[in-house]
Amino acid sequence: MTRPVGHSTQLAVSDFIFEILDSVKDSAVVPLGSSFPSPYLFPLDKLGRFLAAAARHLDPLSTITDLPPGNDELRRQLSLRYLAHGASVSPGEIVITSGAMEGINLCLQAVTRPGDLIAIESPTFYAGLQASERLGLKVIEIPTHPREGISLTALEDALRHHPIKACLFMLNFANPTGSLVPDERRRALVELLDRHDVPLIEDDVYAELHFGPHAPLCSKAVDPNGRVMHVSSFSKCLAPGYRIGWIAAGRYATLIQRQKLSTSLATTVPVQIAMADYLKQGGYENHLRHLRRSLAAQEAMLVEAVEAHFPEGTRLARPQGGYFLWLELPRTVDALLLHRQALEQGISIAPGPIFSAKREFGHCIRLNFGHPVDERLRAAVATLARLASTPQG
Ligand SMILES: Cc1ncc(COP(=O)(O)O)c(C=O)c1O
Repeated sequence: MTRPVGHSTQLAVSDFIFEILDSVKDSAVVPLGSSFPSPYLFPLDKLGRFLAAAARHLDPLSTITDLPPGNDELRRQLSLRYLAHGASVSPGEIVITSGAMEGINLCLQAVTRPGDLIAIESPTFYAGLQASERLGLKVIEIPTHPREGISLTALEDALRHHPIKACLFMLNFANPTGSLVPDERRRALVELLDRHDVPLIEDDVYAELHFGPHAPLCSKAVDPNGRVMHVSSFSKCLAPGYRIGWIAAGRYATLIQRQKLSTSLATTVPVQIAMADYLKQGGYENHLRHLRRSLAAQEAMLVEAVEAHFPEGTRLARPQGGYFLWLELPRTVDALLLHRQALEQGISIAPGPIFSAKREFGHCIRLNFGHPVDERLRAAVATLARLASTPQG
């Protein structure tokens, strides 16, 4: 049975995480380990014009009126996007945040106290682990399938045996595996948590990056009781660096709004206005179509390079969106060591153990295909494959 764990091994893992973040700041390093997509995929000039106009025409009163829950027009535009995805989310339940990361922190703070237990996926995005550690939470890791995400059987078992206060999950193109929970299973997941009276904090920053023609079913569309806190941002799909995120907080909206006011007070007002104006008239759908096409093409090229070079016994599940490829290497490979060896060759990767409270996935790595798959990147894949094929010692 899955058991709760503390964070005793986290210090060393954090060192690796900060090392990777530092390394990808250096443009000489090949950013296969980066969490960020290439910044050149985004309409930064156009966004800059919207931002300049927002600052020039700023209503002085907006510094007060746009305090949490946030700019009215931006929340209205977000509400319209939910509607387009089949979910009825009123602007009144949306709270604007400084990126999804702040959203996750606010949700955790709103529904837990230090010492509480939360359920997370295994593997999971390391920043969720870091946030839970900082808040003094214990975590129980629920196994996930690299293609279909969270195991409902394991989750149900954990809910039955442990006092879980909240779940922090990614249903769409999860970081690091790229898994996608099928529609029927996400309906069942929301119902299961509703029955157990446990809130779902859904970290959903990759939902817009689907390669297929349709967006996955939005969990807010199957959440009649408002038990889902749907957290997202524009960081991965439109405007990295603008730090605009939000929470569709359902029944927790007032609680979240108070948390936001008492922590960071507000999110930058001109940027909120610029994002609202862009959503209204900037050509977001057109941009998303281009972005999805570029990412899907880059995924195919990275998979081809991996399949050409990596040793026998390497396994991968092709993602249907996002920009991460999760590789299971032969069990003889030590991913933390591989990370160090790769960095010496000017290549960053994200080793599996940073995605696990128990430091599992020691033979797995996450590669980023959000950057153009050019000659430099192909050569880096070949070098990585050679390192992974050479006995380590
Ligand atoms: C799964 C996931 N959630 C949240 C974030 C952070 O989002 P933001 O930059 O909007 O804070 C990231 C960034 O890597 C991520 O991968």
